[in-house]
Amino acid sequence: MGFLSVLSAAQRWVAERAAPGSVAIDATAGSGVDTLFLARTVGAGGHVYAFDVQEAAIARTRARLEAAGRAGEAPASGGRRGGSAGGGLAPVTLLLAGHERMAELVAPEHRGAVRAVMFNLGYLPGEGGDRRVITRPETTLAAMEAALGLMAPGGVLTAVVYPGHEGGDAEAEAVERWMAALPPTVAQAVQYRYPQKPASPYLLALEKR
Ligand SMILES: C[S@@+](CC[C@H](N)C(=O)[O-])C[C@H]1O[C@@H](n2cnc3c(N)ncnc32)[C@H](O)[C@@H]1O
Repeated sequence: MGFLSVLSAAQRWVAERAAPGSVAIDATAGSGVDTLFLARTVGAGGHVYAFDVQEAAIARTRARLEAAGRAGEAPASGGRRGGSAGGGLAPVTLLLAGHERMAELVAPEHRGAVRAVMFNLGYLPGEGGDRRVITRPETTLAAMEAALGLMAPGGVLTAVVYPGHEGGDAEAEAVERWMAALPPTVAQAVQYRYPQKPASPYLLALEKR
């Protein structure tokens, strides 16, 4: 049977903590896989923010949400706040902006109420993605600090890190050091990793106290 992939483990940890009606953030929208997962998980009564610095990523995410809408889920609201509810998907605010700006871009009524923040670091694979646009330790850590400030107690932050990519090893170490230094009264940190595959992506996560 095998253990869960790191991406599935991240989704499971989020699903266990973000009930329907919650606010959630996809910090790295990319192709929108996690954005759609979050929109389904928190449902029409919740709200999702999705950040990316690439137009191509925002376009892919919007297309994925719209396809889910056409397949019978609630229509997604690309780029606006408070889109239509009434089906299974949460309204999604798509933001062409760096995740390091999340403290300022999340609506005041959602600050302190966020139940899940997902990071999937690295670059956008596939056609239309620019592999030179990668997440960087300085902005990643600034975003994680901001995320912690926006989260509700009991909320979860997940980060899939890529030690096998150029620059990804330094970023993975920076995230790990930052999490390890957080006082246990602020958050509990955990790691999910395959020790036989040291270059494979692994998952770091926090539960806010
Ligand atoms: C590995 S991909 C994310 C994959 C995505 N979660 C999915 O399900 O397809 C990483 C993404 O981070 C984005 N990115 C890079 N720097 C960023 C920043 N400062 N803020 C937000 N997104 C950023 C890249 O453009 C890229 O799309």
